[in-house]
Amino acid sequence: MKHISIKTTIPGPKSSKFLSSFKERNGGWMSPHPYVHSKQGEGCYFSDIDGNMYLDFASQVASNPLGYNHPTLVSVVNRYKNMFPVKYGGQDFVVPEHVELLEELVTITPKELNAAFLVNSGAEAVENAIKIAMRSQPATKFGVSFENGWHGRTLGALSLTNSKVVQKKGYLTFPVRRLPYDVSAGEKLQRLIDAEATPDEIGFVIIEPIQGEGGYYVAQKEMVQEVRKITKDNGIPLITDEVQCGIGRTGTWWGIQQFDVAPDVIASAKALQVGATIANKKMFPEPGGISSTWGGGHVLDLALGMATIQTIKKENLLVHNQRMGKLLHARLHELASEIQDLQHVRGMGLMQAFDVPSSEYRNAMIYECAKRGLIVLPCGKQGIRCIPPYIVTETEIDEACSVLHDAMHVCKKRRFIKIGDYYHAR
Ligand SMILES: Cc1ncc(COP(=O)(O)O)c(C=O)c1O
Repeated sequence: MKHISIKTTIPGPKSSKFLSSFKERNGGWMSPHPYVHSKQGEGCYFSDIDGNMYLDFASQVASNPLGYNHPTLVSVVNRYKNMFPVKYGGQDFVVPEHVELLEELVTITPKELNAAFLVNSGAEAVENAIKIAMRSQPATKFGVSFENGWHGRTLGALSLTNSKVVQKKGYLTFPVRRLPYDVSAGEKLQRLIDAEATPDEIGFVIIEPIQGEGGYYVAQKEMVQEVRKITKDNGIPLITDEVQCGIGRTGTWWGIQQFDVAPDVIASAKALQVGATIANKKMFPEPGGISSTWGGGHVLDLALGMATIQTIKKENLLVHNQRMGKLLHARLHELASEIQDLQHVRGMGLMQAFDVPSSEYRNAMIYECAKRGLIVLPCGKQGIRCIPPYIVTETEIDEACSVLHDAMHVCKKRRFIKIGDYYHAR
């Protein structure tokens, strides 16, 4: 079962039917990947409803860290199979799983960050991070985020996002100043403090240690440390958005640990299976200041989140991610030395990306990879990200690189044609 096997045109006939209904009925429609998931799979491989088997280097947009059918997660699901079908209002009506996940989560957070508020998504984790920061900065005039950053689509998080105009067109935003994502950030932040607002009027600074949607750019250590120093010296809360890079993907529990600094607040989600705003207990507002009906989603999500952390510990996956990340990085470099169109290999741990010459080229690459059984994701203007599950093996990395190689050989002729929703290379 564990290998790529493509038997139909992509998308296959069954998938095509679902995808056209999806396009018709789904309000949030954007061009989906060319298959419909069968919900079956093993390890890093999954099948679609047409019986094609793919190698997954997209991990459900970083939210499937343990791959498909992991025995520990399967045993969690089996434990719940006779559960009453109730979705608990977990902030008001406490279930053990909520508490157990909180307890497990604080075993992996920086020491001072000893409490968390569980929510349903990454955007909500960011939203609550900025709310709790503002509570400790009651004179807030504006927040500070980074150019090219991505923090989610709820209005607060979207105000901080600086990605594509289509995501913001016509929507109100709250006041934000932006810092460049480079070594000049500290100087610009200091200038804001000197010229625009007193430190207590700056609600927070929020940073992705490794930018996700924006293109998988890794922050410079010097910049992160300088921003931390300035925020600390001035009492401005520093939030790290770890929704994509947290929970071990870079080889440490949190991306920010790669820079040897600790933030005041962490926003987490995706691999955690639920959203979480993490901070020192003293930072959270008085009762009623923040809440949410489900607060942490379904009881099964909470149990899976806890089992995910425990499995990463038990299987020593942080070390594995560092090792496999280095290998993937090296293999992508080897491809880059052979194929000119593959440029700017970058990333940390199992969060790797590269650029191709244009966005059209990139879209064709993603489709040509899918046709050959490899699922990858776009990022930035012309980037492709490779984010396999944490259990990925050397053989699977080689298999993925071989598909990338073949897809690039077709795409490098630079003759693209859009048929339906997909760019094909000719
Ligand atoms: C860094 C970052 N922050 C926030 C979000 C928003 O998460 P969600 O889509 O779960 O709301 C994302 C999602 O991709 C993300 O990558």
